[in-house]
Amino acid sequence: MKSWRKIAIVTPLYNHWISNQNMTEIRQILVTNALPYANAALHLGHILEYTQTDVWVRFQRMCGHQCYYVSADDAHGTAIMLKADEKGISPEQHIADMRSIHEADFRDFHISVDNYHSTHSDENRELSELIYNRLVANEHIAKREITQAFDAEKQLFLADRYIKGTCPKCGAEDQYGDNCEACGATYSPTDLINPVSALSGTTPIEKKSDHYFFKLPEFTEFLQSWTRSGAVQDEVANKLGEWLETGLQEWDISRDAPYFGFEIPNAPGKYFYVWLDAPIGYMASFKNLCDKNNLDFDQYWAADSNTELYHFIGKDIVNFHALFWPAMLTSANFRTPTKVCVHGFVTVNGKKMSKSRGTFINARCYLDHLNPEYLRYYYASKLTASVEDIDLNLEDFTQKVNSDLVGKVVNIASRCAKFVTKGNDGVLSSTIENPALWQQVSDAGKVIAEHYENREFSKAIREIMAQADAANEYIAAKEPWKLNKDETQQQKVQDICSLGINLFRLLLTYLKPVLPSVAEDAELFLNDTLSWSSIESPLITHKINNFKPLLQRVEKDQVDAMVEASKQDIAQVVTKSVEGPLKDQPLAEEISFDDFIKVDLRVARIVKAEAVEGADKLLALTLDIGGQTRNVFSGIKGSYQPADLEGRLTIMVANLAPRKMRFGVSEGMVLAAADKKGIYLFSPDSGAQPGQRVT
Ligand code: MSP
Ligand code: ZN
Repeated sequence: MKSWRKIAIVTPLYNHWISNQNMTEIRQILVTNALPYANAALHLGHILEYTQTDVWVRFQRMCGHQCYYVSADDAHGTAIMLKADEKGISPEQHIADMRSIHEADFRDFHISVDNYHSTHSDENRELSELIYNRLVANEHIAKREITQAFDAEKQLFLADRYIKGTCPKCGAEDQYGDNCEACGATYSPTDLINPVSALSGTTPIEKKSDHYFFKLPEFTEFLQSWTRSGAVQDEVANKLGEWLETGLQEWDISRDAPYFGFEIPNAPGKYFYVWLDAPIGYMASFKNLCDKNNLDFDQYWAADSNTELYHFIGKDIVNFHALFWPAMLTSANFRTPTKVCVHGFVTVNGKKMSKSRGTFINARCYLDHLNPEYLRYYYASKLTASVEDIDLNLEDFTQKVNSDLVGKVVNIASRCAKFVTKGNDGVLSSTIENPALWQQVSDAGKVIAEHYENREFSKAIREIMAQADAANEYIAAKEPWKLNKDETQQQKVQDICSLGINLFRLLLTYLKPVLPSVAEDAELFLNDTLSWSSIESPLITHKINNFKPLLQRVEKDQVDAMVEASKQDIAQVVTKSVEGPLKDQPLAEEISFDDFIKVDLRVARIVKAEAVEGADKLLALTLDIGGQTRNVFSGIKGSYQPADLEGRLTIMVANLAPRKMRFGVSEGMVLAAADKKGIYLFSPDSGAQPGQRVT
């Protein structure tokens, strides 16, 4: 039985088998998505992953398989501890708050998890200890002393990203301990010039402490074959192959107190690193479900389990899921995943999500403005089984939802329903007007099912829309609204519209994994349950209910309002880093070093400053930048007397394109900060000379 399943999973035959209506075999599947960190709200990047997972799960359930879907908040680590500190609450309170926010977002995006738990739970503590103890017993844990940067004021060991300093390569200031965001160099924190702790600003000292390591290199051979067993996409296996070839390192799984997490058995003051217990959280959430619903945990996790285990994750956390995790499971005598399904990252309008552009969109902000099923549909229409990034283009989004869902699919029902309701009291015809067309749309179910199974959702959607086009063409060609004017054609009208409704029913069945709520409304209208097993037979002399509009068009205004609200939404700091509040989103759109260096900043001496007649705020400045002069109009009159400015140094943008103003041409800008109280002109330290470049 087990070997048959293994073979079946990787052969194309299997796909045929799963869509075979006579199937008797019920698959038993456990599915997870990556556990979101409990330090930030969910954003539309997370929603991509949870949509992908949920569509796949709903499809499996529609096929009659047993598919459990569990998730949890990832609640441990330094970042969460510091975040709670910052808010002045306990980590327990903080993670409880975040969990309820996350759960509400999931619910409102129709994510159909069977259980949502937390990694800070009894089940997770027990399982983490169990697994760790087995690793120890198998001699897969090593202990040795290491030297690390330590913040003596905060009494904390500092991970690389909590150390900042000047880049040893390009001299850029305020760079993280592992890489320079200005020039891209990577280095170790000890290379930084003037390193400081990002937590206290003090200079870190070096301190020794014992750490525990998982002996990953011992699993090299196992991982070489596991990663090539079909458990990950080929492109992912190739990447992993490179890492395996370079050689694996032992993995540091411990952290020193203070740390928010689980203390390591027999190692007082040492805690499991968050990434050790995070994937165990998958098991813990399932264990919690088993206890509530009387399910058999071992059936799914025993080494010889013949159930299937799927993890859906983003491309940034592949090493944890396709190296450390299967190795740990093997050592601890648990089953390994059937598949780790890796997706790419969401970009918005072609770029990394950005707060200043309003494209860093929180899940809740989206929900405040738009229907979750629009986004589920748009993501599904773009998702493939590859790890390529996915662009949420807001114009394309509006256009696609309106033309596909409203224009093509819902339109079929709204055009046909009224004739059937009025003409035949809502009872569908006893015949199929065009059997070939019915057959074609019904047959399409097989290939659509294969696409869903293989996570090729974009292909599934394309096929569904092709069938919707065929249905619309049929109705357009038959013109039932014209025939309806002819008394003798009444039966014909009923037959055409009944087929229209039946085609709509097939399309909604195919879309049900993506549009669960629309499908539910359609089920009420059709007076039928949409399932994969019922696509072979049409509804004949079947009573339907009155049609109510299923979906509204997306209006550009709504999208604009969401983008606007996202720009305002800077109170919510959303981080995407392994455990770092320091990697908060930048306040403005990110630029490259090359972009930055294009701006020619110069030390300038204000040689003359005078008020501009007719302008309330402007001063006309004559600036000396070392032998050359520039005339600049600057809106600083409210804060400075012209005479006070003459002779002082400031900084100007010297290569700004000249701008023609009412009073003359402005040949640059001077730099100043401003708030409601005033304007604060920049000046260099003494010793700077007019004309010097500022970098
Ligand atoms: N807590 C870890 C996962 C532990 S799993 C045992 C984590 N959390 S996260 O909140 O940062 O990310 C959760 C998931 O969302 C990850 O799979 C990540 O790849 C995904 N995404 C986060 N930002 C994303 C995009 N912009 N686009 C698509 N998915 C991204 O990592
Ligand atoms: Zn640098």
